[in-house]
Amino acid sequence: MHTRIYLSSPHIGNMEHSFVEEAFRTNWIAPLGPHVDRFEEDLQKYVGVNHAAVLSSGTAAIHLALILLGVERGDEVICQSFTFSGSANPIVYQGATPVFIDSEKDTWNMDPQLLEDAIKDRVKRRRKPKAIIPVHLYGMPAKMSEIISIATQYEIPIIEDAAEALGSSINGKKCGSFGTMGVLSFNGNKIITTSGGGALLSNDEDFVKKARFLATQARDPAPHYEHTHIGYNYRMSNVLAGIGRGQMQVLDDRVAARRNNFDRYINFFSQKNQEGYSIKWSSEPEGFFSNRWLTTVVIDPKENNGISREIWRKAFEMANIESRPLWKPMHLQPVFRDIPFYGSNISSKLFQDGLCLPSSSNLTESDWGRILDILNDVLK
Ligand SMILES: Cc1ncc(COP(=O)(O)O)c(C=O)c1O
Repeated sequence: MHTRIYLSSPHIGNMEHSFVEEAFRTNWIAPLGPHVDRFEEDLQKYVGVNHAAVLSSGTAAIHLALILLGVERGDEVICQSFTFSGSANPIVYQGATPVFIDSEKDTWNMDPQLLEDAIKDRVKRRRKPKAIIPVHLYGMPAKMSEIISIATQYEIPIIEDAAEALGSSINGKKCGSFGTMGVLSFNGNKIITTSGGGALLSNDEDFVKKARFLATQARDPAPHYEHTHIGYNYRMSNVLAGIGRGQMQVLDDRVAARRNNFDRYINFFSQKNQEGYSIKWSSEPEGFFSNRWLTTVVIDPKENNGISREIWRKAFEMANIESRPLWKPMHLQPVFRDIPFYGSNISSKLFQDGLCLPSSSNLTESDWGRILDILNDVLK
């Protein structure tokens, strides 16, 4: 049996090991220390924000952002439906209700028109949303200028979920820097990883200071343990921040490699389309730059001789290659039944016919041989 090819595997550079070794040598084995401070500085500089707090996960970052915006029991928060559950779960942690918005067809992210329809409708019901969570899914930026102009008009803050989009940008402005607060993830499958981790970004120092306070059990200044707030244990370890510092040094190489994967797949599919197939993907709108974290394609069996994404996925699996259906939208998840949803069938159709292809930045030529063999076999 061949070794397994994963959808998105960690890809460690030259410096991670020595930063981790330094943490051990200097005994900074704690959720604070020089690597934590430096990793935060690296992120601020790269994304172009004034403040960053590194945390235990992206989900923790979204949770803290909601708390900082005062989201409480009974509130509503607007969230993109086509996303991973980590975007939406923290809304429920706060006892609030998500309101899900469908995607638009260019970027597959939050549809600005549906966003405005939803806000108008919720306001009419005297349920003005407390926050908006757009997502840059698979690294493709959402239509932020339209979303920001609606959010500004209705005075609703944005929590920008850039968990999958570190390195993506719109007209040179990096994803993670558009919202009132931005969120990153360094989970093991992301474009760079700390094995697990996340970050909260903002230009508002107050938000990030409070996030650090809440993330370290909300300890008030006193020689004993004194608490006036409920806190969380959400800070990143200095050991893991060492991995993060090393990964920042290779981030641009990782973006280039993922974009190269995308080009390679798309050259292949373009050729197949000339032979009569109709395989689709999302193109970058003018000024948009995707890190192409995952290469994703849509294959409608009705337009492709009955070939479905499940036929591909199973053929990959037989060859010990991981692929995955596009994320199942939140409004179709059993756990979120009866939750308000604004939209039609764009995200549900993407889920039905879409597949994420192996997209690691460390795919070898032999991996590519195996992947393209399967794609060719199925499309024969
Ligand atoms: C879009 C999106 N939002 C949020 C998260 C949550 O991040 P984490 O896994 O670091 O908690 C993830 C990734 O896992 C994600 O892909």
